[in-house]
Amino acid sequence: MKRIGILLSGRGSNFEAIADSVAAGRIEAEIAAVISNRPTARGLEIARERGLPAVCIPSKDVPREEYDRLIVAELKSQQVDLVCLAGFMRLLSAEFCQAFPMRILNIHPSLLPAFPGLDAQKQALEHGVKISGCTVHFVDPQLDAGPIVLQAAVPVLENDTPESLSARILAEEHRIYSEAIAVVLAGRWRIEGRRVVVD
Ligand code: GAR
Repeated sequence: MKRIGILLSGRGSNFEAIADSVAAGRIEAEIAAVISNRPTARGLEIARERGLPAVCIPSKDVPREEYDRLIVAELKSQQVDLVCLAGFMRLLSAEFCQAFPMRILNIHPSLLPAFPGLDAQKQALEHGVKISGCTVHFVDPQLDAGPIVLQAAVPVLENDTPESLSARILAEEHRIYSEAIAVVLAGRWRIEGRRVVVD
């Protein structure tokens, strides 16, 4: 059985959707570790309620390289095969990425490469795009930049607020993150240049 490690910083709804997919057998794996960098993350509570192994490794005032070594050590000690960032609001160091080559996924609430970084939904609204969405991609040390596994598009409506657009995108996030994890764990993909071809 493949082992998934989840990293999160907050609400944890993407993590919850992944846990639901694992429970329903849509993802053939177990969640071996849920790690938060923030002690108050709701995602930690959800993990504990579900009886999943959850730990907080606080990142406050810890230099990035040192922090990432702590996280990598925890993930390795839990023998994690795939790391899923689920609202983990930190850049990963090159060493972290090298410790899990093509084994780290992230979900981002825009159609990358548009609107990387914070408040992607607000950025999209302010830019005036008519379509936005979400992206699951492999993680490299650049911000929101690695090879794209899956994307989903949603319309941007005239009367949207950042909240209403975020909610429409989030429903798609919950759907495609599990789908991408299943594809990656099953090895149903190959890389051509920076293009991920899903078989
Ligand atoms: C999600 O919308 C996710 O795409 C976004 O944070 C939210 C976390 O929600 N991630 C990023 O913006 C990463 N750059 P959740 O904690 O309920 O899953």
